[in-house]
Amino acid sequence: MKKIITYGTYDLFHQGHYNLLKRAKALGDYLIVGVTSDYFDKSRGKFNVHDDLMTRIENVKKTGFADQIVVEEYFGQKIDDIKKYGVDIFTVGSDWKGYFDYLNEYCKVVYLERTKGISSTKIRNEHSVRLGIVGNEMILDRFLNEMKYVSGVEVAGAYAPKDDVDPRYKSVQFMQLPQYDSYDSLLNDVEAVYINAPLKMRDDMIEKALIKGKHVLTEFPFSIDYQRACRLIKNASEKGLVLMEGLKTAYCPAFGKMVSLVKSGRIGKVLSIEANFTQILGNDLQNQIRIAGGSVASLGAYPLLVIFKLLGYDYKKVEFITHQENGIDTMTRMNFIYDGAIATSLLAINAKAEGSLTISGTKGYVYVPAPWWKTEYYELRYEDINKNSKFFYKFEGEGLRYEVIEFLRIIEHNQNNSLVLPFSDIINESRVLDSFINADNVKF
Ligand code: CTP
Repeated sequence: MKKIITYGTYDLFHQGHYNLLKRAKALGDYLIVGVTSDYFDKSRGKFNVHDDLMTRIENVKKTGFADQIVVEEYFGQKIDDIKKYGVDIFTVGSDWKGYFDYLNEYCKVVYLERTKGISSTKIRNEHSVRLGIVGNEMILDRFLNEMKYVSGVEVAGAYAPKDDVDPRYKSVQFMQLPQYDSYDSLLNDVEAVYINAPLKMRDDMIEKALIKGKHVLTEFPFSIDYQRACRLIKNASEKGLVLMEGLKTAYCPAFGKMVSLVKSGRIGKVLSIEANFTQILGNDLQNQIRIAGGSVASLGAYPLLVIFKLLGYDYKKVEFITHQENGIDTMTRMNFIYDGAIATSLLAINAKAEGSLTISGTKGYVYVPAPWWKTEYYELRYEDINKNSKFFYKFEGEGLRYEVIEFLRIIEHNQNNSLVLPFSDIINESRVLDSFINADNVKF
């Protein structure tokens, strides 16, 4: 019996997949089809696969060509499978020509002609969301670079309010985008906007976009005006529009897994969180203050994310001990007291400290080394060091691609509120930032 094996993602199953499987089966007597796992696809940079693994397997099954289906979970599995199943021929479409020649050592390799004019990527792009860019801050360059890894979105053009800020502090790529001369004209032409304008303008821009029925992805912090934040979220909910805060850590896969691990009780009851985020911005300091404010407004969203996820919103007290330069907080210690737990964070835009995260519980603790907000590695540590374990993940690029993928996903599923960073998290973040501005803070 001649055994054939082939692999693919088989997302949005199309004629090209069907033809390939049919021809693969015709090469022998028994066809094994490897379907990539969701995690494996992400780890090889294929991010917004539309169909989940079970759907993709079902679609392959329905063709009737596969005698056996296996899940492809790691690099190097092809060699293992070929040996394990006694495969005679490995085959794949001609778009991979030459790439799998190394498998000739284990079996015959056949590249089959690819069906022209169709691909999963093409289908995903047919339903692209037209996105307008609002603002020309430097973060935009990183955002646009990351968008190259995401399909299903098309940048229509950009608009930024006129100002006289030194061009060195502005996005280089902004001017390469089609320009709109007013915010209204941009809004009329798109389904969704990404807002990276300075914080003091954001509330108005979000509001205007929602009134016009557009989905919004905004840079963090969402708002430092709590009442306004509540109204914006109410507007979005009533209209069924997506309103999402682009805080990259929230959408990064490893961070979500770490939170789930803690919630599942592996370190017992959480008693303490220490989450620092400090930067020395040097020449960029004034620019950062212009865009997002001082230490609390510009960085507080990061520790608040982990504090709220693990201890909830029902804190008894929050206090700020803050150092100010020219009326701006450049370094702040933020302390939360909960019933039976505490959380503390050092935030700085003009000083440096260790940027790690430690979550302590009654059984052990989680340690995430700096920069914990780009989570890709963490450790579970116990009194008995033999029980310690280490977890490794990949944090791709600048991490902004994760938030764009989530934004597109919830637009597609008409979910307006992301379960990854829900409205309740954003509202409470806004409540803390607002209270900092109006609080009787301890100064030093
Ligand atoms: N394939 C093909 N003809 C096409 C598309 C895919 O023969 N028009 C083959 C691929 O060469 C591969 C198999 O189908 O052997 C599974 O490919 P997959 O990567 O899942 O499909 P694509 O449509 O190429 O997906 P994407 O656009 O996401 O890369």
